[in-house]
Amino acid sequence: MANTRQYDIVLLGATGYTGKLTAEYITSSLPTNIKWAVAGRNQSKLQSLVDEMKSQNSTRSTPDIITVASLSTPEVSTLAKKTKVLLNTVGPYHQYSTPVVEACAQTGTHYIDVTGETPWIRDIIVKYEATAKKTGAIIIPANGVESAPSDLIAYIATRLIRKVWDCGVMDVVASVHELKSSGPSGGTLATGLGLMDHYSAGAMKECLQNPFILSPTQLKPYTKDTIYPRNPEPNTYIRTPWQKWTGVWSYPRLGHLTTSITAKPNMAIVHRSAGMTPYFYGFNFSYEEYMAVGSPLVGVLIHIALALLTLFLAFPPTRVIMKLLTTYKPGSGPSKESTKGDVFELRAIAVAEQLAKQPRKALATFRFEGGVYELTAILLAEAAVALLTKEEEIKKSHGAGFLTPSCLGNEYLERLEKANVKIGVRQIGDVGSK
Ligand SMILES: NC(=O)c1ccc[n+]([C@@H]2O[C@H](COP(=O)([O-])OP(=O)(O)OC[C@H]3O[C@@H](n4cnc5c(N)ncnc54)[C@H](OP(=O)(O)O)[C@@H]3O)[C@@H](O)[C@H]2O)c1
Repeated sequence: MANTRQYDIVLLGATGYTGKLTAEYITSSLPTNIKWAVAGRNQSKLQSLVDEMKSQNSTRSTPDIITVASLSTPEVSTLAKKTKVLLNTVGPYHQYSTPVVEACAQTGTHYIDVTGETPWIRDIIVKYEATAKKTGAIIIPANGVESAPSDLIAYIATRLIRKVWDCGVMDVVASVHELKSSGPSGGTLATGLGLMDHYSAGAMKECLQNPFILSPTQLKPYTKDTIYPRNPEPNTYIRTPWQKWTGVWSYPRLGHLTTSITAKPNMAIVHRSAGMTPYFYGFNFSYEEYMAVGSPLVGVLIHIALALLTLFLAFPPTRVIMKLLTTYKPGSGPSKESTKGDVFELRAIAVAEQLAKQPRKALATFRFEGGVYELTAILLAEAAVALLTKEEEIKKSHGAGFLTPSCLGNEYLERLEKANVKIGVRQIGDVGSK
C-alpha cells in the first residue's frame, strides 16, 4: 500500500446508527496518531456528528469531512484513493455498497464492513476477487457481531488443537450462550426485509442450505464432496430425526440447543476461513452454530417461531406488513441507555481430528458486556488498526483479496481483549453424556 494516502481510515456511512457508534469508538479509543475522516452523503449530518465528537475527546483532532454525492464507482474511487482502509457502514449492502467494494478492489484500498448478507458477499467475491488480488486490496466483509465472533472462536479453538496435538479439527459446535439485546437497528431490519426483495427464493435457499457457499475452493453448486474430502456426517454427536425436526438437542457443556437466527451467515464465513487454509483447520472441518436455551420446550418454541419468520419473509405481502410493523426505521436503533445491560456470549467446542481414547477438545469463549452494536463498532474499528499494523504479515499468510475476520490474527484478538472483549480458549475433557 502506497504510503502517500492522505488518511489511514475513512469511515463511510458515519451518520448511520452503526457508523456513529464506530466514529465515537474511533474518537475515544483508537491511537491518536491515526489520520481519519468521516464520509457520507449529507454534509450537515456529518458536521453535527463531528461537532458532537469535539465535545467527546479533546486530545484527538476531529476528523475531516468528505461528502460523497453518489455511491457510484467513479465517485467512490476518488474517496477510496485517499485512504489506506475504508470502513463501510452503508447498508443494506446489497442495495448500496457494490460500487464501494468495486472502487476499493480497483484502487487497491483495503475495505472492511459489517454485512451479514451472504448472497451479496457471494456476489462481490465472484465479481471482484480477481481484481482485488491484482491490486493488493484486502477486503473483509462480515466483520460485525454477526460472523466475526464465530470466526474468531473457531480460529482460536483450532489454533489450540493444532498447537497441542498437531492436528486439524473434525467439528466445532458453537452456541450463543447468553444474549441480552435491546433489539435490532432500523438499518438491520431494513436489510433483513430487503434481502428477500432483491434475491430469488432459490438464491436465498442455496445460501441457507449450503454452509460452504463462500468457501473459496467451491464458489459453485454444492455437493458434499466438492469442497475437500469430507466425512459424510462429521459431527461426533449425531442428532436423531426427532431432534432435527424439533430443532432441539443437547451437547455436553453447551446444554440444550436450538436454532439460531444468525447461524447460517456465520457458518458460511467460518467455512470460508477453513476453506482458505484447510491445512490449518483440517480437511474434515465443519462448524455448526446454535442458541443455548434453558429447556427443550423453549427451544422448540424458538425453532417454530424462526420457521414462521422465514415463511413470512418468503412472501411479499407478509413482508410488506412486517416492514410496516418494524420498531425502528433506518438511521435509528436502541438508545445507549437501553443497551447498557446487554450481553453477548458465544461458546464453541472443537473436537480434534485425531481419534484418541481421551477425546481431544478445546472450549473457546467470546463474551462482551454492552450493546451488540457497540461491539460491532469495536470489531470494525479495531480490525482497521490490526490491518494497518500487520498488513504485510496478513498478505504473506493469506494474500490479498477477500479475507475473513480471523485472518487478522493475534494482533486483532489482542486489540479486542484490550477493548474489554473477553476471549478465551482451553483444553477440556469429555464431560456429560454423549
Ligand atoms: N452483521 C452485523 O453484525 C451488523 C451489525 C450492525 C449493522 N449491520 C448492518 O450495517 C448496515 C447499517 O446498519 P445501521 O443500523 O447503521 O443503518 P442506518 O442507521 O440506516 O445507516 C445507514 C447508513 O447508510 C447511509 N446510506 C443509506 N443509503 C445511502 C445512499 N444511497 N448513499 C449514501 N449513503 C447512504 C446512511 O446515510 P444517511 O445518514 O445520510 O441516511 C447511513 O449513514 C445494515 O445493513 C445492517 O444490517 C450489520
